[in-house]
Amino acid sequence: MDCKVVTIPGDGIGPEIVREACKVLDKVAQVYGHSFHYNEILMGGCSIDAYGVPLTEEALETARQSDAVLLGAVGGNVGNSRWYDVAPNLRPEAGLLAIRKGLNLFANIRPAYLYKELAEACPLKKEIIGDGFDMVIMRELTGGLYFGERHTEEVDGLLQATDTLTYNENEIRRIAIKAFDIAMKRRKSVISVDKANVLDSSRLWRKVVEEVAREYPEVKLEHMLVDNCAMQLVMNPGQFDVVLTENMFGDILSDEASMITGSIGMLSSASLNESKFGMYEPSHGSAPDIAGKDLANPIATILSAAMMLRYSFDLDKEADAIEAAVQKVLTEGYRTADIMSEGCTEVGTARMGDLIAERI
Ligand code: IPM
Ligand code: MG
Repeated sequence: MDCKVVTIPGDGIGPEIVREACKVLDKVAQVYGHSFHYNEILMGGCSIDAYGVPLTEEALETARQSDAVLLGAVGGNVGNSRWYDVAPNLRPEAGLLAIRKGLNLFANIRPAYLYKELAEACPLKKEIIGDGFDMVIMRELTGGLYFGERHTEEVDGLLQATDTLTYNENEIRRIAIKAFDIAMKRRKSVISVDKANVLDSSRLWRKVVEEVAREYPEVKLEHMLVDNCAMQLVMNPGQFDVVLTENMFGDILSDEASMITGSIGMLSSASLNESKFGMYEPSHGSAPDIAGKDLANPIATILSAAMMLRYSFDLDKEADAIEAAVQKVLTEGYRTADIMSEGCTEVGTARMGDLIAERI
């Protein structure tokens, strides 16, 4: 198979982790007889430095012409005035929001899975961890508060800021359908998270999710309020299979879910549109404090590349091979600094990439 992959190394640790993911993809290509053609674009702070904007129209168009996008991370220290003392729509993160919207990537899939080998790094008590957990957060990614109308104005001599949270039924329906489709391939349970005791958008969310659920009689649907969900994640994480939620709740809950897996450095993600096209990125950020030091954990990006093979290219066998190689390296006791524990062998970013590639 011949695939056109746009890579976005981005900022901070982005370039080093994308390099390792491409190393692993190249090994897959060699072993299974595929070719991945990479085309690199700038996004985030590096694009601001080069062009004065976090994402150019040309870069977006290049991404649109590709088969899939592999992203490292964007953004830097908020203290970096070159990137942050500017209007919000010119900051590095605005590039990320613009590419999600520009490519219509409304469905964000964030798996949170506890590797047995990393149970030590999980901050929860053993009796709470039980047999471990394996969930997927389905986050709506192109609507809600992050894309609503917003402004700051002065009212009666006081500064006043407004953000708006809007969802229409189609936006809710399409993400709900993705969530139920994924649940059918998993343990057939959807927990839909909202704040229906307060918000109108949540009440509509519930209504539409219930309509969609009628088409999936085999899937068990439960509703959970977001504050309760935040609590349940650290009290009984094993109860979750597919968690379906709107943009901001998903942003917050996916960080929480990732933390209980031991390290945010392990979690991949996929952002999909209606077709097979997707953008794949680690769930973590650009970690500017450790950038360029060979300390970053490349596993989340490598697992994101596996998701790309699975969701965009239908290369399930090859995706399995990457996931098995990651599992093998962990079983053999290799760890990057963020997941290091006693008796294991600490390795850097590049060596971790080599070890995984060698096991494909
Ligand atoms: C994420 C990030 C982004 C988001 C930021 C950087 C805009 O936190 O992907 O979770 O909130 O979507
Ligand atoms: Mg986030």
